[in-house]
Amino acid sequence: MDKLPHPLAAFFDPLTGAMTPCDRYRQVRLGDMRGYYLAERQDALATVEPDLLLYEVYELDVPAKDGEMIPCSTVIKPGHIGDEYFMTKGHYHRNGGAAEIYYCLRGEGFLLMRNGYEVVVEPMKPGSLHYSPAGWAHRSVNTGDADLVIFAIYPANAGHDYGTIKEKGFGRRIVRGTDGIPMIVDEPDV
Ligand code: F6R
Ligand code: MN
Repeated sequence: MDKLPHPLAAFFDPLTGAMTPCDRYRQVRLGDMRGYYLAERQDALATVEPDLLLYEVYELDVPAKDGEMIPCSTVIKPGHIGDEYFMTKGHYHRNGGAAEIYYCLRGEGFLLMRNGYEVVVEPMKPGSLHYSPAGWAHRSVNTGDADLVIFAIYPANAGHDYGTIKEKGFGRRIVRGTDGIPMIVDEPDV
């Protein structure tokens, strides 16, 4: 018989985005993002360290069962690769019935969402609350000069499909204009 879930508590720091204690913590570095950045196609990645830390994810260790929910925090560092801002890989949930709630605590950026052909780009700033419905992929992008801190809650049985987005992207990219202002640019399906 499955072990029953046990109540959990942790401390969540809204300034740093850190959760303590945290049983599931991961760091994503440039070397983990092969195939995601436009710069790769332009051979502009060679000059950037693969060890460069792009973002961190903290999650409580909740069993992946129906009805359970995962509290999660994402901290995206400021910066850009070529002219494309630091961003998460982005994914669909494998379970097409799993939505997600995002709440921005610190920094500025954008949340890209995609449901097949339809794309929505929402600005993120402290206090902005976002609902990514079931069936919509999501990616967060940091366009500011400080950490972008986001708190999220999603169904524990969501699962993650990274392959579709890696292949198709979001149809939009967030790039730094020559004046330093973020721009949303169209990108046709690849
Ligand atoms: C979980 C979720 C977020 C992301 C996190 C990192 O379903 O949407 O917690 O996991 O922002 O992004 P990815 O997982 O796309 O690397
Ligand atoms: Mn998700």
